[in-house]
Amino acid sequence: MGIREEIQRRRTFAIISHPDAGKTTLTEKFLLYGHAVQLAGSVTARKNQRQSTSDWMELERKRGISISSTVLQFDYDGFRINLLDTPGHQDFSEDTYRVLTAVDAVVMVIDAAKGIETQTRKLFEVCRRRHIPIFTFMNKLDRPTKDPLELLDELESVLKIEACPMNWPLGNGFEFRGVFDRMTRQAHLFEYGSSGSYRAPVEIASLADPLVRERLSEGTHRRLLEEIEILDHAGTRFDPEGAATGKITPVFFGSARNNFGVQLLLDGFLAHAEPPQPRKSNGSFIPVESGFSGFIFKIQANMDPRHRDRIAFLRVCSGKFTRDMTAVHAQSGKEIRLSNAAKMFGRDRETVDEAYAGDIIGFVGQSSLSIGDTLTETPGIMYREIPRFPPECFALLFNPNPSKFKRFREGVDQLLQEGVVQGLQPRNASQQVPVLAAVGPLQFEVFQYRLENEYGAEARLEQAEWKFLRWVNPQADRAWAASVVLPTGTILADDARGQTVILFPGDWALSVFSEKNPSILLGDLPFENGIESEEVSAR
Ligand code: G4P
Repeated sequence: MGIREEIQRRRTFAIISHPDAGKTTLTEKFLLYGHAVQLAGSVTARKNQRQSTSDWMELERKRGISISSTVLQFDYDGFRINLLDTPGHQDFSEDTYRVLTAVDAVVMVIDAAKGIETQTRKLFEVCRRRHIPIFTFMNKLDRPTKDPLELLDELESVLKIEACPMNWPLGNGFEFRGVFDRMTRQAHLFEYGSSGSYRAPVEIASLADPLVRERLSEGTHRRLLEEIEILDHAGTRFDPEGAATGKITPVFFGSARNNFGVQLLLDGFLAHAEPPQPRKSNGSFIPVESGFSGFIFKIQANMDPRHRDRIAFLRVCSGKFTRDMTAVHAQSGKEIRLSNAAKMFGRDRETVDEAYAGDIIGFVGQSSLSIGDTLTETPGIMYREIPRFPPECFALLFNPNPSKFKRFREGVDQLLQEGVVQGLQPRNASQQVPVLAAVGPLQFEVFQYRLENEYGAEARLEQAEWKFLRWVNPQADRAWAASVVLPTGTILADDARGQTVILFPGDWALSVFSEKNPSILLGDLPFENGIESEEVSAR
């Protein structure tokens, strides 16, 4: 197969949902279609241990699977599917956002009894900002649900996206009998009692077929015909362009647990989701069939406790990767030999010999790679896909066991490199304890937990009173720091790249600061060449 065919058959996506809407169950069913059966069993097993305080800790116990931190690759119907899992932290998490930079589409799972929930809304917002195509799966139709027309309205009014039902439920709750495929005008009648099987047994018939009438009560049948008429006349029309740019969401109904409607979702998704599209570098789009290029969207230490290592995950944006090739590391301008590339499926690692645009590869032990970095065969390409978020939580980091200093240092350094938590070093001599900064407080809990479990180093974290920080433009006059006037409780610190930041205890302190030091330019995010960095959309 040539490079064009390989790229065209790739579909790279993530499933987003509010916890308990059915993401794990749907993932498992998708894997069954990809014949990755054994692992699918394990994915469900994860759920039996859901008593822990955070997803990470649960994940920690289920390290053998690690699906929450990586990608599942499988083949189905000629497609090569890369399914990335978004970590399900309740916290606003940068991690999740970064994963979404690496996908070309998402499947949004909604519990049809509950409608749109908070986490779904937050994740949806990110997808919308990036114009990521969104496919909706209304799940749990085997239970009483909200009225399907109301669910469509909710998508339109709450999320402000046009919803186009691709299929429509035949009844709901105990009377759920299947779905009507609006594209082929065929009813798919399901049979119960087949839970977990490869595919729910299905009978296909036209709406006029007596079989359809027989399976439904008279009232439900009448209502179904009316609803379909309403949709045909007044519903949103399917428009592939609208779906590809995230303006319209194709909506599918079904039940993940019973494997009803899952194949229609998968087939519909594959038919309408686009293969990898050109991504932007320095204002121009890089064709997917040009030389190899990609960017690092995630770094994770110690994925497998048997090997203490660090894996940098790269999304291939263009071309073909081959094992041991050399590429330019755009940030440093140095050439790197890309050895130790791995594909992960649960606990197993497999060496990657080749990969194409759309694929995700993990580089093991490449310590020079950081989040956001570009690797490219063609010099001059630099992707700026990774959004940054200003931290809003701060803590002081203490080492209670000075005898374990080395371990502590090593652990802290490695975990900071993953980039979820940032380390800041106060300038003031009386305030030498490092400060950790994160977007959500759960990140500190995870940091402390991992430091102890992965590096055997205890840490004590003390909540700090700062409310936010600002970066100082590094091109500002170097002499400013000597004469700067700092409001009470405000301090200067250095970030990991040596840029100056100011930690403020509240809005009032920022106002006082700006009044007293009008010439100092501050930014919410680090500056790059004197310009404040920002999120750059993929399209
Ligand atoms: P999540 O990953 O989004 O958090 O959700 P998950 O798949 O774990 O599903 C949450 C619960 O919802 C599970 O029940 C799961 O079985 C159930 N579920 C998923 N899809 C459907 C569906 O189509 N219909 C119904 N009725 N339930 C569904 P649980 O009680 O946590 O586990 P278990 O009963 O499966 O052991």
